This record gives sequence, C-alpha cells and structure tokens, in this order.
Amino acid sequence: MIAPSLLSADFANLATEIKACEKGGADILHFDVMDGHFVPNITIGPFIAETVKKNTALPLDCHLMVDNPDMFIPKFAEAGADYISVHAEGTHHLHRSLMQIKGFGKKAGVALNPLTPLEFAFEAAEYCDYILLMSVNPGFGGQTFIDSFFRRVVALKDFLLNNDLGHVLIEIDGGVKKENAREIAEAGADILVSGSGVFNGNVEENIKAIIAELQ
Ligand code: DX5
Ligand code: ZN
Repeated sequence: MIAPSLLSADFANLATEIKACEKGGADILHFDVMDGHFVPNITIGPFIAETVKKNTALPLDCHLMVDNPDMFIPKFAEAGADYISVHAEGTHHLHRSLMQIKGFGKKAGVALNPLTPLEFAFEAAEYCDYILLMSVNPGFGGQTFIDSFFRRVVALKDFLLNNDLGHVLIEIDGGVKKENAREIAEAGADILVSGSGVFNGNVEENIKAIIAELQ
C-alpha cells in the first residue's frame, strides 16, 4: 500500500493535493503530527485532520510524533483518524496507549525510531494492527534514508510470521521514493509512506511511478 505523507503537500491547496493522491492510486493518507517536544518541529493537529477527512474517502493514518500521546488519541479518533500510531519512545505506557486507540475502534500502531530496539515491536505486536519502522529520525520530510531499516524489517517480518502474527502490517516512513520502493517492499514492508517522493513534482505521476515499481 502507498501512503503519501501530507507533510510535504502544498497546504494552501490541500484539497487539490488530496485529489491528486486519490487519482494516482494512493491507498491511505499519512498525517504527521509533531508537538515541538518529542521532535524539533511543530506541524498539524486534529482540526486539520478533520478537514482532510471531510475531503477524502481514503483512510487517514495519524502518526503521532508527540510526548504523552494518550492526551491526543481521543482528539484524533474524533477527528476521523482510521489508523493511529504512537511512538514507543513517546509513551510511558505503550499497552495503555494501544488499548486506548483500539477502544475507539481504530487501527493501532507502534512506531519505532531507526535505532530503537525491535524488542518493543516484538512485545507490542499482538496488541497492534501495524508497526511503523522509521527510516529517518522523525521531525522533517525530505531526509536521507537510514539503512538500518533493511535488517530491521527482515527481523521483524520473521518474528511476525513465526508467531502467527502475519496479519500485523509493517509500515515504513522516511526517505521512500520510486528509486528504493521495490527493494523496500521486497524486504517486507506492507505500507510505504512517501512525502517528498510524492509531492515534489507531479503528485499523480509520482504515485503511479512508485506503484509501477511494485508490479
Ligand atoms: C518524518 C515523517 C514522515 C515524513 C516523510 O518525521 O514522519 O512521514 O513526512 O517524508 P519523506 O518521505 O520526504 O522522507
Ligand atoms: Zn510519518
């Protein structure tokens, strides 16, 4: 599945950008929430999530790069998020956060920074619908892909398949472009988030080009 990250979209023309994502064949819209504490940047919140949701039939994937995400989960659930992920490094009570997301009937994900031990994902997997592996340090679009992803996704897929958890999806986020999409998918990623790789240039064509790489 392809999940364009709206962080790199033209916010003055968000509805047009969303339509282009739909036309290109995007499966999910990825929505990056940053609080200026967990990451050195501030982005968008529940109000914009609600607006996006009203302008698309695509599922909305809210990636909460915030400290104490429990405070914000209800707000994004009410705004219409379909998927909500929290960072293992940003919550003191990961199980509680995941249960809170599921309590709203949403798909629950745990996100891990590029060098955070995979043990967190192993422990959390049975309570998750997806695991988000960061392939950049969260905070900004347009960064360079960190190669640790490849050994991590192989180990994680292996763990999931060996523990009857093959239904848990693996999402990758950061530095994904048409040039590396195939290698990433073949390594085991199920959901490919791409920001600058989609929104720099013609959005519809960029998404189609990524999809073509995956055929
Ligand atoms: C980074 C965000 C990503 C970002 C990806 O902290 O979580 O979703 O938008 O952007 P690219 O694809 O440009 O690396
Ligand atoms: Zn993200």
